[in-house]
Amino acid sequence: MKRGKRTTSWTRYLLPGLAGLWLTAAGAQQQPAAPLSTPAPAGQQPASAAGGAMKNPYTGNQQAIAEGRKLWFSRSCNGCHGGMGGGGMCPPVINDTWVYGSEDKTLFELIKYGSVELQKKGFTRIGRENVVAPMPPFGTVMSDDEIWKVLAFVRSIYHGDPKLINW
Ligand code: HEC
Repeated sequence: MKRGKRTTSWTRYLLPGLAGLWLTAAGAQQQPAAPLSTPAPAGQQPASAAGGAMKNPYTGNQQAIAEGRKLWFSRSCNGCHGGMGGGGMCPPVINDTWVYGSEDKTLFELIKYGSVELQKKGFTRIGRENVVAPMPPFGTVMSDDEIWKVLAFVRSIYHGDPKLINW
């Protein structure tokens, strides 16, 4: 009896650990080669890294943009922002007016935490869009990696002034 019990608790702790390692390895393999200037792979920096240092490793990466496009529809971003991001019920994401700013870090945090949490972090609405409403948080249903990919898609449909691109 005693021996059986010990085996059970041993496997209970070891197996999830192994599964975690395997997932980490699989995730690492899926990472596309990031440009040299990228400070860190997706999702490895804390959300509030100092000084807006967070950069999207997938900007311009066609495969990631295609995956991001799928996420745009499967996570219902299109329901609020329109299929091609031109707005509808909610602000457009393709123009050069950005409610809290246009930087990768700001938009990553907006998508992950939503408007309410973003404002608690000290962000205020600096740009005014046609609709003023809170964006819901997606951090519970999307991984950091997925958020970067959907943001890469958003960047790919930008129609604003090219001179204002700072990402
Ligand atoms: C329930 C409606 C809703 C859904 C679903 C939604 N958003 Fe939003 N989104 C908003 C609103 C409202 C704002 C403006 C936030 C504010 O003013 O605080 C916004 C703002 C944004 C912005 C910044 C736009 C700007 O002009 O500054 C981006 C980028 C964005 N959303 C991306 C996404 C992505 C990506 C998804 C899907 C993962 C998504 N949104 C899903 C409502 C939504």
